[in-house]
Amino acid sequence: MATPLAPVETLTQEEAAAELARLAEEIAGHDRRYHAEDAPTISDAEYDELRLRNAAIELRFPELVRADSPSRRVGAAPSGAFGQVVHSVPMLSLDNVFSDEDVADFVASVRRFLSLSPDDELVFTAEPKIDGLSMSLRYENRKLVTAATRGDGTTGENVTANIRTIGEIPQTLPKDAPDIVDIRGEVYMRRDDFFALQKRMAESGQTFANPRNSAAGSLRQKNPEVTKSRPLKFFAYAWGETSEPMGKTQYDVVRRFADWGFQVNDRMERFDTTEAILAHYHAIEAERAELPYDIDGVVYKVDRLDLQERLGFRSRSPRWATAHKFAAEKAMTVVNAIDIQVGRTGALTPVARLEPVTVGGVVVTNATLHNEDYIKGNGTKGEPIREEGHDIRIGDTVIIQRAGDVIPQVLDIVPEKRPADAKPYVFPDRCPFCDSHAVREEGEAVRRCTGGLICPAQATERIRHFVSRNALDIEGLGEKQIEFFFNAEQEALRIRNPADIFTLKKRQEALPATLEGSMQRLDKVEGFGEISVKKLFAAIDDRRQVAFSRFLFGLGIRHIGETNAKRLARHFTSFGAMRAAAEAARMPEGKGDAGNAEWQEIVGINGIGSIVAEALVDFFAEEHNRQAVDDLLAEVTPLDEEPVGTVSSPVAGKTVVFTGSLEKMSRDEAKAMAEKLGAKVAGSVSKKTDLVVAGPGAGSKLKLASELGIEVIDEDQWFQRIGRTD
Ligand code: IVH
Repeated sequence: MATPLAPVETLTQEEAAAELARLAEEIAGHDRRYHAEDAPTISDAEYDELRLRNAAIELRFPELVRADSPSRRVGAAPSGAFGQVVHSVPMLSLDNVFSDEDVADFVASVRRFLSLSPDDELVFTAEPKIDGLSMSLRYENRKLVTAATRGDGTTGENVTANIRTIGEIPQTLPKDAPDIVDIRGEVYMRRDDFFALQKRMAESGQTFANPRNSAAGSLRQKNPEVTKSRPLKFFAYAWGETSEPMGKTQYDVVRRFADWGFQVNDRMERFDTTEAILAHYHAIEAERAELPYDIDGVVYKVDRLDLQERLGFRSRSPRWATAHKFAAEKAMTVVNAIDIQVGRTGALTPVARLEPVTVGGVVVTNATLHNEDYIKGNGTKGEPIREEGHDIRIGDTVIIQRAGDVIPQVLDIVPEKRPADAKPYVFPDRCPFCDSHAVREEGEAVRRCTGGLICPAQATERIRHFVSRNALDIEGLGEKQIEFFFNAEQEALRIRNPADIFTLKKRQEALPATLEGSMQRLDKVEGFGEISVKKLFAAIDDRRQVAFSRFLFGLGIRHIGETNAKRLARHFTSFGAMRAAAEAARMPEGKGDAGNAEWQEIVGINGIGSIVAEALVDFFAEEHNRQAVDDLLAEVTPLDEEPVGTVSSPVAGKTVVFTGSLEKMSRDEAKAMAEKLGAKVAGSVSKKTDLVVAGPGAGSKLKLASELGIEVIDEDQWFQRIGRTD
């Protein structure tokens, strides 16, 4: 046993900080061994002791609570402790708006999409946005069968046993409920219940930062008895798959939920003007502190379900709803240091290290400073922080703001509080990680490290991106592990690029099992152990076949985020076909040049413009990138994407161009409708076009279509073709 611990009352601030750091690491290690590896190395009582000590020190030095403090960690069980559930209808998120003008724009965009005239009525529901965690409850034959968290929207965690302990959630539905229905809503904890629970739990040292984390942590318990002891509640506000239509309006369906025994929010109301919606928003905002639960905005939804259906979805959120968020919470604190982080594209991002401060119930220790200009105060990221261009200096007192889960921002400085010796911050012109020049291109806000492949920061960030949740999604390779593998002295342990992840096991197995010391096997390395190594290798092997779009997104090509990766994958269906096109593509060289056919094909994909196409072509033009991809392809197979046309419809798989003015629908609705039916919508007519839908006033596109002998129909014929007669 180590030397006896000093009483908490006698600790100096420095000693306390050091001990909290040690405890954070130690407890995290025990958590991992207990939850992920099922191999605890200490007794429960010893573990409780550590947490108690942590809590006692934090109580005396609240300003020292660490970002990674065990008391702040959401739910101890890592994902994997629960089974997975694939949502039959994805759980999407909501777009956010922040100002009254944004709301007016949202309403206008819905009207425009639906081609409504100013006299046409359009009703919205408005209701509080509950700050909890979303849940999908599946009822089959009116019995609760599965409860799943949102997860990545497609796949969530199966928390059925825990959800069954929540008294407010009906286990069965009445006769008039459909045979199949996914009820969706928010699991949350009331503020008073949260505070009472905090008190109760303070003794065990395990506390949560806010009601939301508390609800999440309570739900992710391995033992349903623990969940049962936690005061969780549920509001129903949406639905997923249903075996029959639910009703005519959002409002009616939510009323039905209430009839079936669900709690629904009593602040949901209907309005038919932007002014009335905003009045309700401001009323809810004023009541916010008095409401018994935390909310972070107001959600607006188009009330009529037939209109919701027509509006449909963007890639991640419905067009028929938006969340109007409350203004972010602010606080004052001091900048202790400014650090530079280097991302996978080499961008240098300054980060303010702050004196810890509580904003909206969460301790904030870092805030982004975006870029060089933002620090100077004549920045391009948003508005200048101060008109007269004040700079942010180390030692400055600053106002910070935190909204929801986004990274806190430094909004402004407090000039009166500036220490006399504070000096302007000099932005480095060299990369702090590889010492290469960091340059800023004309017109760019960002300074980039030119180290490319030799820069360890870029390389580790690329690996982090590659294994991240929406890319290859390899569990067990967090920041620490990646750093460990990247810096490993021995070749057999080293991961320097994505392909190395997949050869790690082979390289390890080639070593004798008895190795210790400088030539180690991973299972002998401190902090790994046999079980976690097995789990890691299994997680890696599990991703040897992966969706084309995830693979492409994982490569981290500039401008190719998830949405563009999906667009490219759906168009080309196979990675090989896309790569061949990218390698053969020739970009336009000056006016009058349209590039070659491959270039045309890429820029012709709906949503992919020349910036994205150029980034893709540039990527494959580099020998080292082609080599890295080849190495990866030797280990990993990107699976062919479902071709766009697998939906069965008369226009599935066809390339359609809309031109001229449309009278029954907006251009956006036409496009969305065609895509939903499995067609590709192109912006220009070419040999690849199958069908042109032309309205009055169609010009050159129509002419070209007839020259090329492409079928041309009008709007009515389009509706007939797709079988919509209304
Ligand atoms: S409607 C298709 N209504 O906000 C989207 N969401 O930021 C259906 N949320 O994931 C969501 N209160 O967890 C809706 N009254 C409310 C809500 C609400 C909270 C959450 C929900 C969603 C997130 C999106």
